[in-house]
Amino acid sequence: MRIHFGVDYYPEHWPRERWETDAKLMKEMGVQVVRMAEFSWFKMEPSEGEFHFEWLEDAVALLDSYGIKSVLGTPTAAPPAWIIEKNPEILPIDMQGRRRHFGGRHHDCQSNPAYRAHIKRFVTAMTKRFANNPGVIGWQIDNELGNSHWDLCMCDSCKQRYQEWLENKYKKIETLNDAWGTAFWSQGFNSFAQIGTPLITAVGENPSAMLDWRTFCSDLIVDFAKWQADIIRENCPNHFITHNYMCFDEKVNYYDLGELLDFVSNDIYPAGNWQQQPHQPCHMMAASHDVIRGYKKKPFWMMEQQANTAGWGTMGHALDPGQMAAWAMQSVAHGADAVVFFRWRTCAMGTEQYWHGILGHSGIPGRVYQEAQKLIKTFEPYMEEFQGSMPKPEVAIVHSFRQAYALQIQPNHPDLWYVGQLHKYYKGFYDQKIPVDFVQGMDDLSQYKLVVAPLQYIMTPELEQHYIDYVENGGHLVLTMRTGVKDDNNLCMTDRCLPGRLGDICGIEIPEYDCLFCKECSALYGSKDYPIEKWADIITLKGATALAEYGSSFYKGMPAVTENTYGKGKVWYVGTEPTEDFMTDLAEYFVKNSDVESLGSAPEGVEIMTRENASQKWIFVINMTNENKVYSLNDSYKMLEGEREGDLKPYEVHLFVKKKYGR
Ligand code: GLA
Ligand code: ZN
Repeated sequence: MRIHFGVDYYPEHWPRERWETDAKLMKEMGVQVVRMAEFSWFKMEPSEGEFHFEWLEDAVALLDSYGIKSVLGTPTAAPPAWIIEKNPEILPIDMQGRRRHFGGRHHDCQSNPAYRAHIKRFVTAMTKRFANNPGVIGWQIDNELGNSHWDLCMCDSCKQRYQEWLENKYKKIETLNDAWGTAFWSQGFNSFAQIGTPLITAVGENPSAMLDWRTFCSDLIVDFAKWQADIIRENCPNHFITHNYMCFDEKVNYYDLGELLDFVSNDIYPAGNWQQQPHQPCHMMAASHDVIRGYKKKPFWMMEQQANTAGWGTMGHALDPGQMAAWAMQSVAHGADAVVFFRWRTCAMGTEQYWHGILGHSGIPGRVYQEAQKLIKTFEPYMEEFQGSMPKPEVAIVHSFRQAYALQIQPNHPDLWYVGQLHKYYKGFYDQKIPVDFVQGMDDLSQYKLVVAPLQYIMTPELEQHYIDYVENGGHLVLTMRTGVKDDNNLCMTDRCLPGRLGDICGIEIPEYDCLFCKECSALYGSKDYPIEKWADIITLKGATALAEYGSSFYKGMPAVTENTYGKGKVWYVGTEPTEDFMTDLAEYFVKNSDVESLGSAPEGVEIMTRENASQKWIFVINMTNENKVYSLNDSYKMLEGEREGDLKPYEVHLFVKKKYGR
């Protein structure tokens, strides 16, 4: 059974007479799988205990008769009105203490016991019904967990759960008082019962409390997903379970969530009116795929790959001819084993009437359909072989939800964006056609020649030791501004100068720093003077050498970037956020001095990526632009797809392979 290309399908939006036409057109396009039902609770249970799965069974059977398998979604991101009528307390409460009401989606409190009971009843019935259905292969839990839940939920049920979570973590209220530094502003508590959810205050918030709250919210979402995963596993032991992630979205710790899943899926919409630009820069799309691969260290599915113009009330651009296919192959190049396009047909009703699908409103196959058909025809034959293969990067970038949370709570500089800094470093390697893994700090780093750990703001003795060991044993480590500032409770560390014990491997101390808010500053590196952003660590050398120095302010001439040899390895410390040109040059230096190899060379907009298994290594060269481009590869491979090696037409994809011998 080959399952590599598919569409998100909503048969309940269309008259039944149309379904067969859809199935036929899908088959002709090359569709092998659909995802269905993740928003159709009312249609499946119009009143309590009255189940209507027949329509979905019919759709599954019809599709199956055309050789198309189904992934079913549990529809718990949109509880129907009768549930809300019966248990209005399910409606979530925002930070202002207001209820969010029925009429959109995600109007649910994820701790609410009444809601959990509704879910248990429904998901049990649905999974039992489809457990042995030959057309069904797997499940998606809910939809984009964390989406729309940013300032939710502050209700009494969540408050009680939060108090329990805190009590379990701290045991004694005195311990919590110390960990949260409640001596400040008279915030001490006598008991856990006094602690509320973070409703809007008169002014200010406690950063330690907020870090616990963010972590609690993530744990709650994971627990909410587990509530469903347990039911699915029990009733459908032969089906897979996945969930559609949102790239770098931070509401739920995707590493934790991934533990419940067989594999991770992702949703990506590079172009839409909300982007404020024609589309997201390609390196950001690439980084999204890489972090998705990193959440479970394995290949993934694209559960929603943008097919066409996106928007709700207003719209983004139409995609250029070839653009959608190039984006889909970018997903594959970074580790997608299946690509499911959102959506099959543009919807005629509801909020998403302008979020376009493979087919337009008319349902008549057009340019986008033909493009998808061509893409599948060309690349489907290889997909089975790609399955399970991974890139083997020599470079890793450390990614952490905890750092993201702490830096959202206190960004230090108003424009500091944790993931944004990761993207900047990523681009430095992406442009050099060097594959990158995203890893967690405590992962085994020994397989990487170069590890970049930006903004290690929260530091623990274990993580410090882990980095020290990595370098001692020959690793090359890049650390940046705001490292070692906070302990794990989000309290400032006071025992040493910044960057704490890591100062020993960096060979520096940072007695002072300067936030570059409304202030321009530069750094001199080589013979150039580069603008820098956001921050300037004022560094004293304690054995390191200066690689770049500040070009202005009272610390002009003092080190901005340093290099230190420690054990068998090397540490670079970047005391600022470099702007693009500076980052390019620094990344080149890091790569050269870590012996990291590039896949080839090509101008911006041309992506070179690789996947490999024990016997073969593939190279994907993708023109992400609407212009002709050239490239060259650093090794010789056999060309499998493409017209002329080295020359790319707009959005063209070239595929190469190399067999590995001697194994
Ligand atoms: C998300 C959701 C889909 C749909 C699309 C388009 O990614 O998962 O249900 O809403 O966005 O808005
Ligand atoms: Zn709640």
